Amino acid sequence: MKKILTMFIAGTMFFGMTACGNNSTSSEITDEEEISVENNSSEEDMEETTEENITEEKTLVVYFSATGTTKDIAEKIAKITNADIYEIKAAQEYTSEDLNWHDDNSRTTHEQNDPTIRPEIGSDPVSLEGYSTIYIGHPIWWGEEPRIMDTFVESYNFDGITMIPFCTSGSSGIGNSGKNLEKNAGSGNWLDGHRFGSGATEEEIQSWIDGLQ
Ligand SMILES: Cc1cc2nc3c(=O)[nH]c(=O)nc-3n(C[C@H](O)[C@H](O)[C@H](O)COP(=O)(O)O)c2cc1C
Repeated sequence: MKKILTMFIAGTMFFGMTACGNNSTSSEITDEEEISVENNSSEEDMEETTEENITEEKTLVVYFSATGTTKDIAEKIAKITNADIYEIKAAQEYTSEDLNWHDDNSRTTHEQNDPTIRPEIGSDPVSLEGYSTIYIGHPIWWGEEPRIMDTFVESYNFDGITMIPFCTSGSSGIGNSGKNLEKNAGSGNWLDGHRFGSGATEEEIQSWIDGLQ
């Protein structure tokens, strides 16, 4: 009886150890396999992300600026976001007389009083291929976007592109400018716009950009 009991205990221990050993081995292999799959998949993910970055994450800064204030902000945004930059230039450049808002008969007063006017663009057209985000900036003229901005947005298709309006002004907010551009563009995913004062710092611009994500 004692002999039988001893054999039973020894047998139980053997199978127990074997089972443990198998579990341990199988779990080690499984872990290794999982790690290796995870590693492989994360390498693939990284490759895909890198490809996506190359093909889908290009950013463009588009701006119009009559006296350089918006240009300064546009260049800072482009530097921070590592973006390409495109300047909307008027075919007929704005003179200081044109920009005189105290003159009821100046070119800009005339243009801003008529929302259907579309001043001609003089700069070469830009290809939007590959851009997923466009920052679009302008000065505020009579509380709104200069009409040449409407010429621009009506000339392009922004499907699949995130559009981020910004403006500069003496004191006015961005008002309806972003909404006007969105409506006239008729395409693109438009975010709320932001107004900057003259000489906004890179830190201020960076913090606005961080808040967009
Ligand atoms: C014709 C005209 C109209 C303007 N209207 C406004 C206005 O309504 N509110 C405001 O705060 N600033 C107004 N400004 C000031 C400009 O928005 C401001 O100086 C802007 O930063 C100029 O940008 P830019 O140098 O890129 O052209 C006006 C300027 C001009 C020339």
